[in-house]
Amino acid sequence: MKYSILVSGGAGFIGSNFIHFIQYLDLDIDLVNVDLLTYAGNLQNLADLPHPERYHFHQADICEQELMEWIIRKYEINTIINFAAETHVDRSIHDPQSFIRSNINGTFSLLEAAKKIWLQENSNKVNSFRFHQISTDEVFGTLKADDPPFNEKTPYSPNSPYSASKAAADHLVIAYGKTYGLPVSVSHCTNNYGPYQFPEKLIPLMILNALEEKPLPVYGDGLQIRDWLFVEDHCRAIWDIIVKADPGDSFMVGGETNITNLQVVRYLCQFMDAHPRTSSKKPYDRLITFVDDRPGHDRRYAVDCEKIRSRLGWQPRNDLKAGLEKTIRWYLENDAWIADIRERNEYQGWLELNYANRRAQ
Ligand code: NAD
Ligand code: DAU
Repeated sequence: MKYSILVSGGAGFIGSNFIHFIQYLDLDIDLVNVDLLTYAGNLQNLADLPHPERYHFHQADICEQELMEWIIRKYEINTIINFAAETHVDRSIHDPQSFIRSNINGTFSLLEAAKKIWLQENSNKVNSFRFHQISTDEVFGTLKADDPPFNEKTPYSPNSPYSASKAAADHLVIAYGKTYGLPVSVSHCTNNYGPYQFPEKLIPLMILNALEEKPLPVYGDGLQIRDWLFVEDHCRAIWDIIVKADPGDSFMVGGETNITNLQVVRYLCQFMDAHPRTSSKKPYDRLITFVDDRPGHDRRYAVDCEKIRSRLGWQPRNDLKAGLEKTIRWYLENDAWIADIRERNEYQGWLELNYANRRAQ
């Protein structure tokens, strides 16, 4: 089957990595990137695609249903992968409204557009369509130290405005599958890291702060546990699900690394200490500063990836060490990308809003 894929949010971190991933597969796949270009969207992430002739971009809001319908018709889209979202938990605490709009209303509009064109206008081809929702492990809430990891049967229990909005979107996607027969699938991935990640998230923020000899702000006691996955492994999991999984299915995706935030930051410091370009400033861990915790901070996430491993044969190819090394190298080699973000008032305003009043502990 020839895929014609609408990638929403393709100018963001994971979406742009996914577009690169697909283009490097060197298959005859058309990609249509629909991105509003919020503060997190960056066309520089897509500047050097190997097959520009198979790539189209529309700056558009997924909340605009008629425009989404026009795009689905124009490009004969048979696969929608919904990455578009507001994604930063701290921003959702300061200002949840845009999360409700893009994450819930936006997913609803895309679902309605897909339902209309795929189920009402092309019902004879329904088996060749797929709506894939990029979800997160955060919809399941938080784990205690001894709890088993989340799996596909774990009940939803979101704790932040971000995760609540993602949970609502997932419920809509699943409901459209059950009620209308829309061919949907959902993946719940853990914390991604890698090239092109906006430096508001833990790993790139720490790299950029370290490069500027600024404090490395660890929330609370730094003993919160996350599971880290190199973004390229996530992209391969999504593609495996699109190609191999049945509609109606969902999958946990993660690196099963489970280490504390403090360990991650110490790791980053060690790698930067060892890198020739930055080693003169070592040791970087002297910059670690414990600051006021995130309100409602989930203590631990962990996922059981048995289903995607056994059913689809997926497993991560990069362990944390390899992935972090690639990531640090990428940030050290992409000064212009970093400078462009650092110069934006929006980014400086965000750092001020989120960090200026956080007291050091
Ligand atoms: P990101 O913030 O880097 O990018 C989000 C993109 O969506 C941006 O390009 C932005 O412009 C676009 N966007 C936002 N609202 C839009 C709208 N209304 N219409 C069109 N485009 C819009 O996010 P990311 O880290 O790449 O995450 C992508 C997806 O993966 C999200 O759905 C997120 O919930 C999910 N996810 C992320 C992680 C992670 O660790 N980053 C882990 C699991 C799941
Ligand atoms: O688990 C998947 C989720 O991972 C995705 O759904 C989200 O879109 C993505 O943003 C990410 O959420 P987190 O809140 O886990 O990521 P973040 O990088 O913001 O924070 C990782 C951990 O580090 C978290 O426990 C908070 C902590 N932290 C974060 C920042 C930005 C700090 O200690 N200091 C910081 O300055």
